[in-house]
Amino acid sequence: MRRVTDFSQAASPLLANLKGRSFLTTGDFSRPELSALLDLAIQHKHGLIDPGSPLAGKSVALVFFNPSLRTRTSMVVAVQQLGGVPVVLDVGQGTWALEYRDGVVMDGDKAEHVKEAARVLSGYVHAIGVRCFPRMNDYEEDRAEVILRAFERHSSVPIINMESATHHPLQALADIMTIREKFGTVDQRKVVLAWTYHPRPLPMSVPNSFALAAAQYGMNLTIACPPEYELDPQLMAEVERHAEQNQGNVRVVHDLAEGCRGAEIVYAKSWGSLKYYGRLDEERQWRQHYRHWMITEQLMAKTHNGFFMHCLPVRRNVVVTDEVLDGPRSIVIDQAANRLHIQKTLLSLLL
Ligand code: CP
Repeated sequence: MRRVTDFSQAASPLLANLKGRSFLTTGDFSRPELSALLDLAIQHKHGLIDPGSPLAGKSVALVFFNPSLRTRTSMVVAVQQLGGVPVVLDVGQGTWALEYRDGVVMDGDKAEHVKEAARVLSGYVHAIGVRCFPRMNDYEEDRAEVILRAFERHSSVPIINMESATHHPLQALADIMTIREKFGTVDQRKVVLAWTYHPRPLPMSVPNSFALAAAQYGMNLTIACPPEYELDPQLMAEVERHAEQNQGNVRVVHDLAEGCRGAEIVYAKSWGSLKYYGRLDEERQWRQHYRHWMITEQLMAKTHNGFFMHCLPVRRNVVVTDEVLDGPRSIVIDQAANRLHIQKTLLSLLL
């Protein structure tokens, strides 16, 4: 294949349409756009595209309300490798603590409102990435994505979701890219999204985004989880709609071994229960019933020589055994590596 000089030469014309857009979930993009994006990221990874410096003279603010290893590093490196300047802001540590609710009396510890912060940043930078986990107290507040939406409302530059209360689309794109690399195709691949035990309830952003992207790419998706840990019904309706449109399918089972049987990919992840949302002590007690929901070699033996995936960070011998995580079918490091390639591609197109 011919080596081209930048993303704009290699990109399908429909990707020109992404310029200036925000990226909040993969649902923001059509299936053809997602497919073209994946093609481009894979070409970039294989050195078939020299991206040049499409971000020369541009800067990107990376606003973190929560910790990160992969997202922080890969976004900084992506922006720098494209010739831009990344500006990392840790909210409340080196920046003012930010308020995001409307109409509050700001007499607490929050010194600045997102209304001003987003507008000020929009004058300095060309895009704003935001990481804002759910507070896990009130599901309606978390589902409303109050922080991400406040940035979107008050910013005049594209907003990139670096993991919000309900979605982690950059991770999902890197995951689908990894599957495509391993199999050559994504459609109809048999994947189980496997709930696993974890000592405390975690956000649903990764499972939500993976399920949505798997459906958009026409995968044969099984979600294996205890009955109390089914994903949001509205999200599931969206997942089912995309699965139908893309000749994929989705089913939910409450038995981990059944879910793993015949799977080509086991995507392990823990998440919190909607039933116990905001009742952390009760939730913690309840999840003790499911301590045995861990990915082991015995479970992997039920798969169709399946690959093991996890977004990381992962708790060894709680979520997955050392043997599986260190074994030859574990592709967690490939997933993390692909974050850089997919983000460079996306940043080039959005900016
Ligand atoms: N997978 C992921 O987003 O990792 P970090 O939380 O370390 O960024």
